[in-house]
Amino acid sequence: MTQTDKDRVVIFDTTLRDGEQSPGATMTHDEKLEIAELLDDMGVDIIEAGFPIASEGDFRAVSEIAQRSKNAVICGLARAQLPDIDRCWEAVRNAAKPRIHTFIGTSPLHRAIPNLTQDEMAERIEQTVTHARNLCDNVQWSPMDATRTEWDYLCRVVEIAIKAGATTINIPDTVGYTAPVESADLIRRLIETVPGADDVVFATHCHNDLGMATANALAAVQGGARQIECTINGLGERAGNTALEEVVMALKVRGDIMPYTTGIDTKKIMHISRRVATVSGFPVQFNKAIVGKNAFAHESGIHQDGMLKNAETFEIMRPEDVGIAGTSLPLGKHSGRAALRAKLKELGVDVGDNQLKDIFVRFKDLADRKKEVFDDDILALVTATTEGDDALQLVNLKVVCGTGGPAEATLEMEIHGEDMSAVSEGDGPVDATFKAIRMLHPNKARLQLYQVHAVTEGTDAQATVSVRLEEDGMIATGQSADTDTVVASAKAYIHALNRLIVRRGKTGKDVKEISYRDVT
Ligand code: KIV
Ligand code: ZN
Repeated sequence: MTQTDKDRVVIFDTTLRDGEQSPGATMTHDEKLEIAELLDDMGVDIIEAGFPIASEGDFRAVSEIAQRSKNAVICGLARAQLPDIDRCWEAVRNAAKPRIHTFIGTSPLHRAIPNLTQDEMAERIEQTVTHARNLCDNVQWSPMDATRTEWDYLCRVVEIAIKAGATTINIPDTVGYTAPVESADLIRRLIETVPGADDVVFATHCHNDLGMATANALAAVQGGARQIECTINGLGERAGNTALEEVVMALKVRGDIMPYTTGIDTKKIMHISRRVATVSGFPVQFNKAIVGKNAFAHESGIHQDGMLKNAETFEIMRPEDVGIAGTSLPLGKHSGRAALRAKLKELGVDVGDNQLKDIFVRFKDLADRKKEVFDDDILALVTATTEGDDALQLVNLKVVCGTGGPAEATLEMEIHGEDMSAVSEGDGPVDATFKAIRMLHPNKARLQLYQVHAVTEGTDAQATVSVRLEEDGMIATGQSADTDTVVASAKAYIHALNRLIVRRGKTGKDVKEISYRDVT
C-alpha cells in the first residue's frame, strides 16, 4: 500500500449476496444486472454479486455481472469446499477483476455444525484458501462469527489463511453482537498480533442486530480495517448489514475525526437506494439516515424558520450531495408563518401581510385535520380565501345520509349578521345542503356547474369544489376546499352566492329584492 492509499477505505457492496439473502428480498436476473451496473457506476470498489453454488440463477447472475463489469472487482462467495470454490471461480473468471471469497464458521457454535475439531478446521482452511489462490490471485477469506471466536484460535486461523494466500481477511460480526470499542480493538489487535497481517487488507462485515452495524464498521476502520462490507439501505439478513450510504456519508461529513476517503460518487446514493427498495420490495423507513423520506425534511416551525435563514442550522450535509434535489419543508401543523410565506412564494403566490394572516388561520385549521398539507392544498386555501366581508357565512352544517332514504341537512348560516337555521331533505347530502341554503337565502340563480376534485392523495385529501351560478345573465363562480366534500360544497355554493350579491350590488339590485316567492 502506498502512503496515499493508506487512508483509502475500500467499499465492498454485498447487496446482491447478503442483501438478497434476506427473506423476501429476492431479485430477478435483470434487476441484479441493473443494480450491479448502478453499483459499478457509483464507484463501489468490489461487488459481491452472489453465491454461485447456491443456485443456477445465482451462477448465471454472477457470471453475467462479471462479464459486464467495468471498474469494480466482481466477487463470488464460496463455502470452504473445493466444488464451491471451483463453481465460484467459473462464475467470476470472466470479470476484468475477479475475486473469490471463501468462508467458514470458526466460533465454537459454528465449528460444531460440520463437527470439526480446531485442528481439522485449520487444515480445511489451509486447503481451501490454497485452492482458491491457485485459481485466482485475489482471494478473500472470512472466519464467520469471528466476534464470538476464541481469540487464540482466531489469530491462528487468520495466520493460516494469510500464509495460504488470502489477500483480504474479513472479520465478520455475523450476529451483530459486537460493540464499537470492541470492534476497533479486535482489528487493531489482529493487525498487531498476526504474522503477515501487514501484507493483507483487513475488512469489517457487520450485522445490525443491536443497531450498531454502522458504528462498528467505522470503529473497525479506526482500528485499521480498510475495507467496509455493506449494502444499500442496510439490506441484509435479519436486521440487515452496515448501510453503504451511512458509512460513506459518515466518512465524508466527519472527515475531521475520521480522515478516510472512499471512491463513492455520493450524488448517486439516492437513486440506487430507491431502485434497491423497489426491486427488493423492502421499503426504506421514513426516518432512515441519509435515504429516508424524512432525512432532509423539516416540519416544526422553529426548524423551518432556521432552515430558511441558514440551512446549516439543522442540516449537517447538503441533500444535493446524496442526490436529493433539495431540502423539503413539508407543511404541517407544526409549521410557522415563515414557512407558509416561503411556500406561497415558491408557488408563485404573492400575498400581503393581512392575506397571509387569513391564509395562515385556514392553513392551521386544515393542518390540524390533515397529516401533511401538500402544495395543491395550499393553492386551494388561497383560492378559498374570501374577498372581504361576506353577506352569507356558513356557521354549522350537519348531514345525515345513508342507504335508507333521503339525506337530511341541518344548516346554520349568518345572513347579514343574523343567525338563521333550516332543515331540508334532498336526494343525497349535497342536494339536501343546497336546498337548505336556498331556504335560508332564497334566490333564483341556476346551478350551471358543480365539480368536485380530490386535490391530494389519501382518504384525508382535501376536496376542492367549484360551483357556477347564473342569474339574469350574471355569472358567479365559487370555490372552496375542505377535507369534508359536503362542507366544501356548501362553502363553494355560498361563495358563489356572495359573489352574486356583490355583483347585484354593483348592478343596483339588492339581495333583499329577491324574495322567497322568486324561488322556482
Ligand atoms: O455475516 C457473515 O458472516 C457473512 C459471511 C459469509 C461473510 O455474511
Ligand atoms: Zn453477513
